[in-house]
Amino acid sequence: MKKRVAILISGGGSNMVALVKSMTGDHPARPVLVLANDPTAGGLKKAQDMGIKTAAIDHRPFGNDRHAFEAKLTAALTDAQPDVICLAGFMRVLTSEFVDHWNRRILNIHPSLLPKYKGLHTHSRAIQAGDSHAGCSVHMVTAKLDDGPILGQAKLAIRPDDTPDTLAQRILPYEHKLYPQVLRRFVVDDQTPVILP
Ligand code: GRF
Repeated sequence: MKKRVAILISGGGSNMVALVKSMTGDHPARPVLVLANDPTAGGLKKAQDMGIKTAAIDHRPFGNDRHAFEAKLTAALTDAQPDVICLAGFMRVLTSEFVDHWNRRILNIHPSLLPKYKGLHTHSRAIQAGDSHAGCSVHMVTAKLDDGPILGQAKLAIRPDDTPDTLAQRILPYEHKLYPQVLRRFVVDDQTPVILP
């Protein structure tokens, strides 16, 4: 029986595409839902074009009522009955109640070498700090933002002429390699960290 994976996105969904494309053949999991908090997210069409069921729950009508938004999120996810939920460019902070409900079955990819640079603007912070390297991390989602156990990392040197945009462009392909490898292990309960390159 294949494990069921739901993927949450907010934008273009390039990590979602990489995850979906990885789940073929003898892969122990299959994508069952791609859900966006923005009905205009470009990733929704990409998922539909790959034959994946999609849903969109606009978070804006809920204002600051995170729990009301998450109640809709949980209803849509419960229908899909996921074994794992992958946050892939999902830009909404989730409450501890939501995270606890899906107890340790949520993964996230974050564009920094955690535990450094939790939150936003990770690449500009690494450049500003004069770091020699930057990268991305896949971690288990816990109640604290970008703070759960690290399940994989990809690391690359920052170049003297790098801007946050050029660095992000160089790191994104590593994200697309890292996340599928972490997911493949996670769905068979192997939490041995994936370290790239
Ligand atoms: C990526 O940098 C990812 O690390 C972050 O969101 C950005 C866009 O991701 N979480 P995607 O192209 O929407 O997957």
